[in-house]
Amino acid sequence: MDDLSWLVDGIDIGTSIRRLTKLFESRGFWGASQDARALVGHVVKLDYSGLVLRSNQCLTEQEVSALSRLIERRLAFEPVGRILASRDFRGLELEVSAATLEPREDTEILVEAALAALDDMLPRAARIADLGTGTGAILIALLVERPECLGVAVDISPAALETASRNAWRHGVSERWLPVVGSYASSLSPGCYDLIVSNPPYIATTDIALLEPDVRNYDPVLALDGGPDGLVAYRQLAPDAFAALKSHGRLFVEIGFDQASAVTEILKESGFKGVSVLRDRGERDRVVMGFRP
Ligand SMILES: C[S@@+](CC[C@H](N)C(=O)[O-])C[C@H]1O[C@@H](n2cnc3c(N)ncnc32)[C@H](O)[C@@H]1O
Repeated sequence: MDDLSWLVDGIDIGTSIRRLTKLFESRGFWGASQDARALVGHVVKLDYSGLVLRSNQCLTEQEVSALSRLIERRLAFEPVGRILASRDFRGLELEVSAATLEPREDTEILVEAALAALDDMLPRAARIADLGTGTGAILIALLVERPECLGVAVDISPAALETASRNAWRHGVSERWLPVVGSYASSLSPGCYDLIVSNPPYIATTDIALLEPDVRNYDPVLALDGGPDGLVAYRQLAPDAFAALKSHGRLFVEIGFDQASAVTEILKESGFKGVSVLRDRGERDRVVMGFRP
């Protein structure tokens, strides 16, 4: 049992966040101060600016006991997004469920590249498909930022699609959103899409056991398992995505840091041209893109 004796009723918000940050840092948790603010903010029902403005406000006995239960869960490696069933993605608060991956900041680079591609496209009312939508993070971000576009959200998990559809409704894009239960692009009509995006499962099966406990114990295997070499999803989706795109339509896929050359080959073999690789903010290969000539 961890020593939480510092957490007493009467402790103020600012001090509780500082001590919690230190505790999480001592465990090596990445994003310790965001986690601390999110948990304290949840129990005292304040957002980021409210926490700053009310940093001298004291926690009540009930808030202390609620917070200590959340801290115990985090110390057992449960990610904050799972504890709060909610995760921020590009400023959008998204519901996370047992059927969905917790969206990652790493995926924002794919969204930024897709937004830039949409800006180059005419007509502006592009049709987008998101293969393996999970919480809907990628497609919802695109539809929120490009209100003239329409999107199809595909996932093989009906439960993930239910979560995604609630998120689409919450962010006001459900009228431009069609959920489809199916395997990647296999059920999309040919020649209909301007843009296809996907962050498919890409961890090699035997590597799943090596992931951090807050990933391997909480993200669904269906969202992680990319088969024996991690590349099964790309081989499945590339030919069907090629067929579903219009001429000059573009595909953007997220990849693991060491998969750029293998995924580049898969896209080229499926007929894509202009295949290139984008790096993330940490200078790791993160996205492969190509277009249908
Ligand atoms: C890595 S998660 C990505 C989720 C979300 N797009 C994101 O970036 O946060 C992969 C998603 O693909 C879905 N999936 C797995 N196999 C699939 C398949 N054959 N066809 C469609 N979706 C699939 C999983 O259910 C999961 O939601």
